[in-house]
Amino acid sequence: MDSTEPSKQKGETSFSHRLLGWYDIHARSMPWRVPPHDHALEVRADPYHVWLSEVMLQQTQVTTVKDYFLKFISKWPSVFDLAKSDEEDVLKAWAGLGYYSRARNLKKCADFIVAEYKGKFPETFEELKKLPGIGDYTASAIASIAFDQPVAVLDGNVERVMSRHKRIETFFPDAKAETKILLGDILDRERPGEFAQATMDLGATICTPKRPACSLCPINADCQGFKNGDAENYPYKKPKAHKPTLKGAAFVITNSNDEVFLCKRSDQGLLAGMTQVPTTDWNSRHDGSADTTQAPIEGNWKNTGVAKHTFTHFHLELTVWRIDNIDVVPHQGWWCKIEKLNDEALPKVMHKVLQKAL
Ligand code: ADE
Repeated sequence: MDSTEPSKQKGETSFSHRLLGWYDIHARSMPWRVPPHDHALEVRADPYHVWLSEVMLQQTQVTTVKDYFLKFISKWPSVFDLAKSDEEDVLKAWAGLGYYSRARNLKKCADFIVAEYKGKFPETFEELKKLPGIGDYTASAIASIAFDQPVAVLDGNVERVMSRHKRIETFFPDAKAETKILLGDILDRERPGEFAQATMDLGATICTPKRPACSLCPINADCQGFKNGDAENYPYKKPKAHKPTLKGAAFVITNSNDEVFLCKRSDQGLLAGMTQVPTTDWNSRHDGSADTTQAPIEGNWKNTGVAKHTFTHFHLELTVWRIDNIDVVPHQGWWCKIEKLNDEALPKVMHKVLQKAL
C-alpha cells in the first residue's frame, strides 16, 4: 500500500467491498450513468452528462431529472452546443426546476469550458471548483463519477448513511467536515465514482429517511445505528428556521384569440428574468395586495382561487384573478397561445397560477 494512503481498518475495507457488491446487482439505471458491468469494461461516463445531471439533481429527485436531462441533451448534445445556445432557451428548458440562477450558470460554465478548456472538462476537484456555478458538491461529484478521482462526495443521502453508520452526534450541516474525513478514509480507491453512486443509491432505496430497511442493508453488520436500534434518529439536524407566508395577487388576462398575456420579471431578485402573468409587487420580504387594486387594467375580474407555492425561505399565496376578451393591454409583454404555454420560461409558481385560472 502507498504509505500516503490512510491505513484502513478491516471493517472499512469490507464496507466498500460489500457496498460495491450490492451496487453491482442493484445500481439504479439512469440515463447519465455507466452501469457497473460497462464500467468494469473501462466505459466511462461523459463529464458533460455527469455535470448536467448533478446540477439538476440538486433541484429535484431522480425521476423528474431524467426528463429534463434527456430534453437538455437532445437540444444540446455537447458542451459546445450548450455554449452556442441562447440563455433564454436554456431558461425555458430549465423552467419548473427552480433556482434559475443555476440555469444561467450552466450556460456561463459551458461558455467558460469551451473558451478556456477547448470544451474538455478539467478532471480535478480543485480545477472544477473554479468553474462558474460549481461548488464543493458538484466539483466532487464530477471528479469522482466522471474521472474516478478519490474524493468524498457528500449529498443528503450520503450524510444519512454515514451519520447512521458512525452515529455522528454533531448536527448537520456542521458535521459535514468530519463526515467528509470519515468518507475519505473508507471510499474505494479503485472505484471511487461507483462508491459515491452506491452510497447515494443505498441512501435513496434502503437507508431511507423514515423506516430504513436495515435488514436488507449490505453494510448493516458494522452499522452503529443498526446495532443500537436508533438508526432512524440520525442525521442530527438543526431545527429549520420558520418560513413566513407572503401574499399577493396574479392577473390572468385572456383575449378573444385563446391567448394569455405574459410578461418578463425584472432581471434582479427572485425568479429574475423569468416569465409570468402580471402580479402585484410581492417579493421575498414583503406582501403585495391580494385584491385587484394593483391589476394592470380595470374591469370585471373574477377570483379563481389561491395558488400556493413554497420557495427556499418563504411560502407564497397568490390570489388569482382572471379577465377575458381583453384585446389591448396597457403593460409590456406578449400574448401566448394557451397550448404553447409549456414553451415559455414559466416557473412552477406560474404554472400553479395558470392552473387555477384556465
Ligand atoms: N443524487 C445526486 N447525484 C446522484 C447520482 N449520481 N446517483 C444517484 N443519486 C444521485
